Amino acid sequence: MNYLSPSILSADFCNLGRDIKLVEEAGAPYLHIDIMDGMFVPSISFGMPVFKCVKKCSGLFMDVHMMVEKPERYVEELIKLGADCVTIHVEACDCVEQTLKNIRALGAKAGIAINPETPVSEVLPYLGMLDMVLVMTVHPGFGGQKYIAACTDKIRQVRRAINGQYPDVKLEIDGGVGLDNLTMNLEAGADVIVAGSAVFNGDITKNVKDFLQLME
Ligand code: DX5
Ligand code: ZN
Repeated sequence: MNYLSPSILSADFCNLGRDIKLVEEAGAPYLHIDIMDGMFVPSISFGMPVFKCVKKCSGLFMDVHMMVEKPERYVEELIKLGADCVTIHVEACDCVEQTLKNIRALGAKAGIAINPETPVSEVLPYLGMLDMVLVMTVHPGFGGQKYIAACTDKIRQVRRAINGQYPDVKLEIDGGVGLDNLTMNLEAGADVIVAGSAVFNGDITKNVKDFLQLME
């Protein structure tokens, strides 16, 4: 089973509710929420007040990607506001195991993300205590970047590690994913597909449907 997770970072923030409704009506099952702090990544996106409104206007599965230093500080509030999955970066957190435990104890799914330069080995010790691995396929911080081809092999490595022993763990990819490289990424083993600019630039309904058709 594959899941499309449109990233609202590329939505029209003047019409955020409208854009979210469009992806929901077109059949996307997840919504990807990119929270950036200007420290872990150079840019700042949005925080709790915006997420609170997004949650109010959508019934989609809230897939929250924390590009934030010490993300453990925000886990409880995010889940209270309705995050369904909270993904933290292994590079940004000193207490990964405890944070994963807290996320799950608070009733959400727990994920770990790895940057393009972070080896897959960094995530392996945690496979038994998480629900999703997020392999970044661009350097985090901005939408609309080019997919880094060297990351495809990391997707294959994570898939091999998951298969067999941890069949319930999902493998998400994020950055530079479009219709042109979607099939290759699915074949490499990704099953949650984040797409920002490829969904929100142009005809949103058509873009979502085109993605979903290739993901069948
Ligand atoms: C980037 C974010 C992504 C971003 C993807 O750091 O984590 O979720 O929105 O945008 P695209 O799909 O345009 O690369
Ligand atoms: Zn993201």
